[in-house]
Amino acid sequence: MLANTLELLKSAQNGGYALGAFNIYNMEGLTAVIQAAEVLNSPVMVQLHPITIEWNQGRIVPACIEAAKAAEVPVSIHLDHSQSVAAIDVALQKGMNSIMADGSDLSFEDNLKFTKSIVDKARQFGAIVEGEFGKLAGEEDGLSVEVYEAKMTNPDLAAEYVLKTGVSSLAVCIGNVHGKYANEPNLDFERLKAIRKNVDVPLVLHGASGVPADMVRESIALGVCKFNVNTEIRTAYMDAVREVITNSMKPDVMPIIQLVVERMTEVIKQKIVLFQSDGKA
Ligand code: 13P
Ligand code: ZN
Ligand code: NA
Repeated sequence: MLANTLELLKSAQNGGYALGAFNIYNMEGLTAVIQAAEVLNSPVMVQLHPITIEWNQGRIVPACIEAAKAAEVPVSIHLDHSQSVAAIDVALQKGMNSIMADGSDLSFEDNLKFTKSIVDKARQFGAIVEGEFGKLAGEEDGLSVEVYEAKMTNPDLAAEYVLKTGVSSLAVCIGNVHGKYANEPNLDFERLKAIRKNVDVPLVLHGASGVPADMVRESIALGVCKFNVNTEIRTAYMDAVREVITNSMKPDVMPIIQLVVERMTEVIKQKIVLFQSDGKA
């Protein structure tokens, strides 16, 4: 069934587990996410990046919504990393009710303004907004803030950010990165603890590909109730394509689609179990 993201997040927060939010690009991805969730009786989030929506003039959105409605488990459809108001408008008009307003490249003040304007707009559509801030504006007391520190979510500003923007969930920057980690991730759990103490909205960890199981469990214990996963699923997709075309030059598309879905489903199932959302549908 088509689910409301905020309800899913609140259930996860109360239940001490986390949702997997999986990025998809096409029907194969959509099929893999829903299939994995159904097998494990788990609620799940399907994420679309604005580019995925843009390139085919939004045709993928109703496909996702219909597939969610037909699913045996709760599925919500979420717009990932949106910096453009135009992309958000398209998503809202096409019925997406869960959106990430990504103002993390902006100064704190501009991020507040941008995100609040999206929250106000989304509210008219009954949609909720995930916000992110991980950058401090330049200087304090004449001292330049260290670059590393500046990219992290400041726990002291978190409450102000949530209050002033009205976001329903907050993506934290605690050393997590998109894509592969060069070394073992260095997640700042003290910072996460401090953020959790200052805000009560569900917390989101982006860049979950490559985060080891013990760190995932620690993050959940400290209040993360949504993990974004893309790279590990994409890698499974690409490996499957390579495997099929290396073994056969026949002009058959089905074997590619089947192996791609099978391999992505495997990765997604592992993540669902790791996030402890299995059996929570
Ligand atoms: P990974 O590619 O590291 O899994 O990050 C995904 C993500 O954060 C999507 O928003
Ligand atoms: Zn992300
Ligand atoms: Na990552």
